[in-house]
Amino acid sequence: MDELLTKDNLHYRDLARDIAEKHVKPIAAELDRTGEYPWSVVNALKEEGMMGVWIPKDYGGAGAGLLNLCIVVEQISRKCGGIGCTYVVNALGSLPIVLAGTEEQKKKYLPDIASGKKLIAFCLSEKNAGSDAGSLKARAERDGDDYVINGDKKWTTNGEAASIYSVFATVNPERGTRGVTAFIVERETPGFELGKREDLMGIRCVPVNETHFRNCRVSASELLGGAEGRGFKHAMMTLDVARPFVAAQGLGIAQGALDLALEYTKERQQFGQSIASFQGIQFMLADMATQVEAARHLVYTAARAVDAGVKDVSKISAMCKVFATDTAMKVSTDAVQLFGGYGYCRDYPIEKYMRDAKITQIYEGTNQIQRMVIGRALIKEGASA
Ligand code: CAA
Repeated sequence: MDELLTKDNLHYRDLARDIAEKHVKPIAAELDRTGEYPWSVVNALKEEGMMGVWIPKDYGGAGAGLLNLCIVVEQISRKCGGIGCTYVVNALGSLPIVLAGTEEQKKKYLPDIASGKKLIAFCLSEKNAGSDAGSLKARAERDGDDYVINGDKKWTTNGEAASIYSVFATVNPERGTRGVTAFIVERETPGFELGKREDLMGIRCVPVNETHFRNCRVSASELLGGAEGRGFKHAMMTLDVARPFVAAQGLGIAQGALDLALEYTKERQQFGQSIASFQGIQFMLADMATQVEAARHLVYTAARAVDAGVKDVSKISAMCKVFATDTAMKVSTDAVQLFGGYGYCRDYPIEKYMRDAKITQIYEGTNQIQRMVIGRALIKEGASA
């Protein structure tokens, strides 16, 4: 429904669609096999000034807001969920600085991220602190003008591609979530180590690493926002804004799977006619398209709410993440079904969509955690009504 989009939205959509067609689609299957990072896509995005769509103009970005970012992510993920992920995770890593960094930190880091010169990753999760992010164990201790970080992070998405990391550690384990503090750590900092790369089911071009901190010394000027004990709130604020663009990744995967299913069912002949001419198949396509459209509206609404400065977006952000990523899983599974036996073979592109979709229900907060966030918000609203 182009009529509901602004000129600016259409500009970003067309630009991203073009990059996805020319640069993403041709390499998606190969990168799925080789696990190589999509540097050629990063370069294409850099050339079009798309690496900092979400970063404010004052710090070298386009200042184009969350909706435009979601539109770009959707178009890239429509051709490859993995490449879509490499792009969204860079936005995720930079958001703590955008939302809570000091002026000095913003000026130091954001221009290089906006230009695409440097990529940034997000180090929150640990082996035993996934959904329960507040129970993280990485420790940061003040030592003169520095902090010394020790600990191990898990699931650092874009780990080996990034050169800057938003890292969450506790300065006081007894304070629980109120001890969590965020730091900005550069890759060459002594004591920072890249660990094992995970062997993933989908999004196989995305390097997801363990990251280790061994007496990793950073200046107190790298303490995010200059304040101890605010890190958990910074992480939650970040996720509230980030969940819509992971939802947009799910939306793009769902739309891409629907595109392929439509194309295939129109071509595939059985019983002397295209299988798309059967009502049973049309009903499936109709349900898939309706779910995709509903997901799009929820994602765009959440993004518009963030852009409009709505104060509390936790619920709508979690809602769009649940709905769009569950839609990605359902629609890509149905698309595989519509391809029949061919859908299960790697000769055809559709099974990759199903593998790529699965992670979107898990990362950026599992969809069970999203339902918890929604449920808590409903109860709070009810109590204050
Ligand atoms: N904004 C600001 N502050 C918030 C907040 C929000 N959205 N949500 C909670 N807080 C504050 C609370 O107000 C509270 O503050 P006080 O101490 O002042 O009271 C504090 O944070 C603790 O809040 P809770 O008691 O609600 O925290 P909790 O321990 O119950 O956890 C949770 C809540 C929603 C389950 C949270 O832990 C969570 O979101 N878990 C999932 C983690 C997650 O999404 N991980 C994804 C990692 S990134 C990733 O996956 C990306 C990738 O690889 C691509």
